[in-house]
Amino acid sequence: MSNESDPFFEPYDRDEIAYGSVPSSGLQAYLDQVPGLDGAKALDLGAGAGRDTLALARAGYDVTSVDLSERGLQRVAERAEQAGLGTHVGTRVCDVREFDFAPQNYDAIVATTVLDHIPTEDAEKVWKRIVSALSPGGFLFIEVHTTEDPGSNQMPGLESDAPVSETAGQVINYFAPQRLVRLALQANLRVLRYEERLEWDYTHGAEHLHGKAILLAVHDGHYPEWYGQPAAFPRREA
Ligand SMILES: C[S@@+](CC[C@H](N)C(=O)[O-])C[C@H]1O[C@@H](n2cnc3c(N)ncnc32)[C@H](O)[C@@H]1O
Repeated sequence: MSNESDPFFEPYDRDEIAYGSVPSSGLQAYLDQVPGLDGAKALDLGAGAGRDTLALARAGYDVTSVDLSERGLQRVAERAEQAGLGTHVGTRVCDVREFDFAPQNYDAIVATTVLDHIPTEDAEKVWKRIVSALSPGGFLFIEVHTTEDPGSNQMPGLESDAPVSETAGQVINYFAPQRLVRLALQANLRVLRYEERLEWDYTHGAEHLHGKAILLAVHDGHYPEWYGQPAAFPRREA
């Protein structure tokens, strides 16, 4: 895929790869407490250059990274090889709307800022496929930009004069307050963590502000050993 048809080509082609190498903190907190079992399978949707893919692979998952950016996925493969995780990471250049989600097939499904890169109706269809592709003991980690983001065309972001991300033009579906958690509740998921917040981003381009919502959820009736973020009252070391 050429530079012209991939808006993320240049950010992923940099020596200092966009979004850096630190995984989403909400995802890492879960993986630290609940690592993948032998043979566990994960899907990283809109994987970019793979910071979350690598965290999943380090935690024991066999990961499929899906993205439209061929350059991003080349960097994922490169980084996985360098980390000695090459055999645990596979890449698929594919639109998440076209991906063939096998039912109850994945023990972890991560979608860090991709449902907000596609129109609302498409995001809701993909969301339903995500939920049905989750195994009974699996977890979802979803992150989206919200209307608090200064790139948003809706209030309150619309009136913010905070600096906007260099890639904000790719976000076309800012989530209103509570929208993401409502999707989870409507799908009868058990919400382990939901947060709406502002965050400064120093991982690419000039520093800028984001409005974000993050969701960590499992199927109703599933009780992983999750102590929260930060972990509250975990068992003390023996
Ligand atoms: C903001 S980046 C996030 C990358 C990565 N998840 C991270 O947090 O580091 C959004 C990513 O979504 C990808 N993307 C956007 N629309 C997509 C679609 N319809 N199908 C697959 N990937 C898509 C972009 O190519 C880009 O890599």
